[in-house]
Formats: sequence, structure tokens, C-alpha cells
Amino acid sequence: MIPKPVLIDTDTGVDDALALIVALHSPELSVKAITTVAGNVEVQKCTRNVLLLLELLKVKDRPLVAQGATKPLRQKLVTAPEVHGKDGLGGISFKKSTTRKTSLTAVETILDACNTWGKKLTIVAIGPLTNLAQAWKKDSKSLRKVGRIVSMGGVFRVPGNTGPVAEFNYFVDPDAAHVLFNTGLPITVVPLDLTHQIVLMRREMEYRAKRRASRLTSTILRLTKFYMQYHKKIDGFYGAYVHDPIAVAVAIDPTLVQTQNMHVDVETEGQYTRGMTVADFRKTSRHGEQTVDVALTINRERFLKLFHERLWK
Ligand code: BDR
Ligand code: CA
Repeated sequence: MIPKPVLIDTDTGVDDALALIVALHSPELSVKAITTVAGNVEVQKCTRNVLLLLELLKVKDRPLVAQGATKPLRQKLVTAPEVHGKDGLGGISFKKSTTRKTSLTAVETILDACNTWGKKLTIVAIGPLTNLAQAWKKDSKSLRKVGRIVSMGGVFRVPGNTGPVAEFNYFVDPDAAHVLFNTGLPITVVPLDLTHQIVLMRREMEYRAKRRASRLTSTILRLTKFYMQYHKKIDGFYGAYVHDPIAVAVAIDPTLVQTQNMHVDVETEGQYTRGMTVADFRKTSRHGEQTVDVALTINRERFLKLFHERLWK
């Protein structure tokens, strides 16, 4: 099997960290670069978190790590310390990292990756889409070479997680999502409708960590505690959603989900609806509109098998 080249664009919070672990433990993927973007926490913290994780995982073929946007295209940055902790990784202490980031920017790294791997490249975007929108504005010809972008974000027919109608990533930078959805690039959207179909319970995490005791598994357990306590307070179950690992799983195996192709846009102005994904579920196609593939259902069993196999490796 020839591993698929991927670039992961992340606002490294707790579920991003799980997604990175899954990706770096997956033989189907070759993670060439990790770019960071302000979102869950400030971008400097995101970069630090990526470097700490690479150190923890003792990754041999280190992907490039490039720092990206410090703030959304137009809006003021909104972060989520109440969900991911002030540092983005639930406040646990890590051994200092000796890994360094590259001096290239995230935009340069994204464009280079598109030029190097072209249609073979998948970009997994698990934070606000700021870096990708900037890459598009800088050099759309190069970005057009990408094989696929899997973007975790949006919410269509279930309640939002950042206000009633919006999902966090697109709420933080609605303008960037609006730019991307009107490019005609091959995009798979992994919205809350899908990610809320799977809940990871604390008890299962404890059981699995105990069964396979190591520095990594105990770190995973500590890393997820704050995040799971947040869901206990807000959603009433001691566990968590695994939004970003699902996007990585879709990059590994697109047949895990069923998608519907449609025109989607994002509300950038609304007084009550900032970041809302407005989708055209009507069957008749409308001439000239750009469309994306929205993932709406997932094979739970197959996803969970893949997720646990890779996470606890
Ligand atoms: C998304 O928002 C962030 O808090 C998570 O990391 C995930 O990417 C879920 O709405
Ligand atoms: Ca994220």
C-alpha cells in the first residue's frame, strides 16, 4: 500500500490532538506537513501543542510544522478555553519539545504541498479555514491542484455548538468558509450532524488505557479529562465528541461516510446567525453554483474500530 500524502491544518485543541495521533499512527497516511491556525487557542499555542505531540509520539519522519493565521480574515478571534483548557491540551504538563517549526508560513507550506503532490494530496482541515482561504487568495492555481479537502465544520439539521445554529470552526471564521465553499474545490464537509452520532465515554477510555498501560496511553487519558468534564457539564454525559478524528478517518477511508452533494454557503453577516451553514437540500440542480460533499451518516462500528486501533497503538 502506498500511503496517501496528507497535510493537516489544525487549531490544536484536545480532539485535534486525538486526530493527530490517529493520523500519525495510520499506515494509510503519510503526514507531510502540519499547519496551525488560531481557533481553539491562539496560534502560538497550537504550534507548541503540535510540537509537543510529535515529541510524545516519537515520530521518526517528522512532518513540517508551519505556523499560520493569528486571527480570522475579518472577525475578532474567539477561542474556546472552557472546552480545551487555556493551553488547548486540557492543562496537562508535557516534557519540553526539542522539535522546531519551519520558518515557512502555513500558506507557503499548503501551496508547496499542492505543487508537490497535486491530486494525490488530501488536506484535512480541522480548525477554522483561515489558512486555506488565504492560500486561495494568494495562489488559487496551486491550491486547485489539491486532490481533496476534508473540512470538519458546519451544522445543518441539528443544534449548533457555538450558539443555536453555528458550529465552532465556521463560527470563528465564517468569511474563510464562505471563500472556500465558492471555489469549486473538491471539499468533503464533516459537520456536527455526523460527529454528534458518536460519543466516546470516559469509562471506555479508562478501561482501554489500563489494558494497554504506557506513557502515551496515560497521557491520552490525562489529556482528555478536562474536555470530557466539559461535556459532562454542558451535554450531560461524561465523555466527548470526536469531531476531528472523524475527519482524519474520512481521509483514510472515504467509504466510512455517506455524502450528499449540494451547494452550501456560510452566513458571514447575520446578527443571530454568524457562521451558520446554509445548504440547498433541494434535489434540482441550479446552474453555475459550486457544490461540496456533505457527510451525513457514518458507519459507527467501522469508525470506532479504526479509531481505537490507531489511538492506543
Ligand atoms: C470543532 O471545534 C473545535 O472546538 C474542535 O476542535 C473541532 O474542530 C467542533 O465544532
Ligand atoms: Ca479543531
